Amino acid sequence: MFTSLRAFVLCVAALSSSTLAAPWPTHVQHSTHRTRSLPNGAKVQLYHPKSSFEIYETGVDNPLSKRSDPVHFTDAGLAFLRSKLGESDDFMSIRSSYAGPHSSHVYVKQRVNGIPVANAVANVALNSKGDVVSFASNFIKVSGFAAPSTKAKITADAAIDHAAKALGGRHTGRAPELEFLATEDGTLALTHAVRLEIDGSKHMVEAYIDARTGEVRGLVDFTNDLHMRVVPVTKSDPTVAYELLKDPEDKKASPRGWGAAEDRDWHATVGNNAIAFKGNVTTFSIEQIIETAAKESAPGVFDYKFDLASDPSSTNNLNAARVNAWYVANMAHDILYRYGFTEEAFNFQNNNFGKGGNETDVVFISVQDASDNNNANFATLPDGEPGIMRMYLWSDFQPMRDGDMSNQIILHEYTHGMTNRMTGGGTAVCLQTTEAQGLGEGWSDAFAEWVAQTANSGYVHDFTIGGYVTGDNTAGIRSHPYSTNRGVNPLTYANVKDSEEVHNIGEIWGQALHVVHAALVQTLGGAKDALTNPDAENGHTAFLHLMIDALALQPCNPSFTDARLAWIQADQNRYNGKNKCNLWLAFAYMGLGVGAEDYTNSHKVPEGCPLKYTKPAATA
Ligand SMILES: *[C@@H]1O[C@H](CO)[C@@H](O)[C@H](O)[C@H]1NC(C)=O
Ligand SMILES: *[C@@H]1O[C@H](CO)[C@@H](O)[C@H](O)[C@H]1NC(C)=O
Ligand SMILES: [Zn+2]
Repeated sequence: MFTSLRAFVLCVAALSSSTLAAPWPTHVQHSTHRTRSLPNGAKVQLYHPKSSFEIYETGVDNPLSKRSDPVHFTDAGLAFLRSKLGESDDFMSIRSSYAGPHSSHVYVKQRVNGIPVANAVANVALNSKGDVVSFASNFIKVSGFAAPSTKAKITADAAIDHAAKALGGRHTGRAPELEFLATEDGTLALTHAVRLEIDGSKHMVEAYIDARTGEVRGLVDFTNDLHMRVVPVTKSDPTVAYELLKDPEDKKASPRGWGAAEDRDWHATVGNNAIAFKGNVTTFSIEQIIETAAKESAPGVFDYKFDLASDPSSTNNLNAARVNAWYVANMAHDILYRYGFTEEAFNFQNNNFGKGGNETDVVFISVQDASDNNNANFATLPDGEPGIMRMYLWSDFQPMRDGDMSNQIILHEYTHGMTNRMTGGGTAVCLQTTEAQGLGEGWSDAFAEWVAQTANSGYVHDFTIGGYVTGDNTAGIRSHPYSTNRGVNPLTYANVKDSEEVHNIGEIWGQALHVVHAALVQTLGGAKDALTNPDAENGHTAFLHLMIDALALQPCNPSFTDARLAWIQADQNRYNGKNKCNLWLAFAYMGLGVGAEDYTNSHKVPEGCPLKYTKPAATA
């Protein structure tokens, strides 16, 4: 079950002395070695001492089985490990543990003289009755060693310098720890474990720097290459682009990648942020949900053909749907994370890596959900409970079109999760009034639009959402395209009065945000790297920062005018009010000026701002 280790340990053959030359025939090395290249050209060889693995099927006793009082599974697991591996108290330390629905797991690391051995680990699993069902270990026999020294000759700072030089990376800021490394020649090397980012943030590694000599003795690579054929996130649908992407994961936002959860790589559209599957979310167990995810087409690869002329339920199209929906939801997670929708801000992750917030709330994406058509929805529960995105087929075409292939619709739905969580502090109860729900629809369109607009650095184009599923490439699923040209989109704040339906109200807020975005890009310019670089100051980054900052400021069940004021305050907080007049001008253009109230337009801007309205941006 959970026996495979995510981290491989490797020895750096090209960078260290020839004593590391592998003495084993190639096929034997498959289980203990791997050669790979780092972006700076350094060739590295992985080394992981071979593991033993035993399974006990219906289970065996652990040393605490006879106890009459209740025993926690971690105590039982540790007692079993101690009975198998050694008796001294200080020979192992717990790495992690968790109880799944059918088994509980304890993972430990070996210790020698009080120092952990990075690549000597063991794990045990217990069934629901508390019997031990499996045991794996690659602990090393220490008795043969002369007591290895625990005194480092070089400092942690020196080790960071050595690591950065040898591997071409940048230290992540996490303080190095002293660890032993079991090496191929049978010795224990005392090392500083230094965390590095390599190749931007694409590769995250732990380098084991010899605490005596400063040489690189080993490396854990947290990164698995991932290839997936999808509609690139800034594009709308597969009629525009369907491409094989390499490594789309953002390790800053998803440190263990997209495909891992519970310390395991699932090799399927299953991970810490999202699970895309085909089934019935209300009746399925987690096992069934995982079973109905799309599997990798090859190790590390999700590459399925998509054919517009075939039914969405055809094998390839269904796989393409699960892969694309999963990709876009993960992209949304990563982009929004960079801009502030983090663990502490109540985001959706199964594991929060100790960074705050409530965890165990992955987003379940039910692709081609059979319960409806011509729609999509997102159920947001409080922080700590899963998000549920249901994507449906659309019947305007024959064969039907699949919302899972519309990036705009997936981004729209994911944004509901964020706005419901961030308004009111993670409780998910603060976008309930008609007006507040309308705002929710507007933010969702605005984020879908923002992602697409980042491909344009110069100005904000007119934007249509959902043309792929309706066939209406002018207005899509709304009544008008978003546009700064009143001839194209005449909506203003006053139109809220005559709108009952939340999407109709949402279009008005979406239009307001389109105008705001255009104004910010006209004034501050744009930048094509805005998806991953929130630190640059330009109209794209300012827009998404302010939108997200404002969510946390606004009241529970905000009105349009509240939501607008939250933007003004967000700009004060983040940019010292630099965009204040620009924002007011854009809102005033929409009738949301200083005197706006009860759905009566105001085109006024505050004193001190230029009084004359100037059209905020050119249109395409
Ligand atoms: C999903 O399960 C629920 C609850 O059992 C049921 O009411 C519903 O009809 C099912 N939906 C589909 C599409 O099978
Ligand atoms: C987080 O979980 C705790 C414990 O269950 C709960 O009291 C708290 O309300 C949750 N936070 C949110 C924002 O739902
Ligand atoms: Zn919506």
